[in-house]
Amino acid sequence: LDNGVARTPPMGWNTWNTFGCNINETLIRQMADAIVSTGLRDLGYKYVVVDDCWFNPNRDAQGNLQGDPQRFPSGMKALGDYLHARGLLFGIYQGPLDQTCAQYFDSYPGSTGSLGHEYQDARQFAAWGVDYLKYDWCSPTGTISEQVARFAIMRDALASTGRPIVYSINSNSIHSKTGPQRSWSDVANLWRTTEDITNAWDTGQTNGYPMGIQNIVNVTVPLAGYAGPGGFNDPDMLEVGNGGMNETEMRSHFALWAVMAAPLMMGNDVRSASTATLDILRNGNLIAINQDTLGRQAVQVSHDGTRRVLAKRLANGDVAVALFNQGSSTTTVSTTAAAIGKSGSSFTLRDAWTNGTSTSTGTISASVPAHGTVVYRVSGGTTTDPSTPSTFRLRSASA
Ligand code: DGJ
Repeated sequence: LDNGVARTPPMGWNTWNTFGCNINETLIRQMADAIVSTGLRDLGYKYVVVDDCWFNPNRDAQGNLQGDPQRFPSGMKALGDYLHARGLLFGIYQGPLDQTCAQYFDSYPGSTGSLGHEYQDARQFAAWGVDYLKYDWCSPTGTISEQVARFAIMRDALASTGRPIVYSINSNSIHSKTGPQRSWSDVANLWRTTEDITNAWDTGQTNGYPMGIQNIVNVTVPLAGYAGPGGFNDPDMLEVGNGGMNETEMRSHFALWAVMAAPLMMGNDVRSASTATLDILRNGNLIAINQDTLGRQAVQVSHDGTRRVLAKRLANGDVAVALFNQGSSTTTVSTTAAAIGKSGSSFTLRDAWTNGTSTSTGTISASVPAHGTVVYRVSGGTTTDPSTPSTFRLRSASA
């Protein structure tokens, strides 16, 4: 979406994965402070997104949305001011139908969705200083054309406020059956590719609820051609730091999200994050690859069912290569400079995890533990787009 924001994938933190509906303004202020004190803000994690359940179940007499009076007694504008004063950005959640997901699926009280209130709600969000809207289709029904029409109303309502607001949509019922089926880059900045992520490596799902890390990768990799500046596939928020995976798997999760040009939205309790967790989230090499201005999502170069190679072309001509081992024992994952679109006689490989460098005349290879992902930033020679079995045409850098 050409609305001036999300030219690279947004980074930040969201309440949902750890806290669900148990949220309040104190919690969110503490998290904001932790994002600043741990250095995460300065690495790019700027959007603090308040997901479902922030609202009063009743609109006011004029039909305006209001924060929940017990849990957000200072009001939503005050929360936005708190975040802005600390160099952070303010995200909020709403849905296009008459109920949010917690209301529709989880008996949370009220029917405060934006249906019929789109312009009023967009003006309210802008007045509160909202910088990011997560807009969540909460019904098991709805055709693609209905969804496009509904999501487009809020796109236009946000645009009419004049405030730059990242627009993140979840088409829910559609993608949980078959994947997103279309690029939503005409409608939104971010669109979810699967059902909700869960804190596990693999749940056996091809696309349904809940999705493990590897299951989401399987669905999202073929969608690479949809991604570009202003519009990115959203494989859901991070589970780094939430247990449920071993260290190798958590690193792999982060590395794969980085090369898939996914939004990097932390979903852990940053206040109590371990050094091991922070070391993953603060990996500057992977963040730079994710935030590269060309805005490419890595394309699949090869996949033999176990060994998967992805390549993400970068703005300066470097190529980030992910060597992903989907098998259950250590194996060597290999590709070549030619296969990732590099020609020349000598290349430098920088390992994103160790920061060590090596040189190669063409072979790109690593011993990768079970479920691990080694990422190299490959420089030298000249670069073209890799020939790829991706079924989708790459969007041009200016799209
Ligand atoms: C479904 C979304 O996929 C989740 O990320 C979260 O926003 C919940 N709805 C909130 O109810």
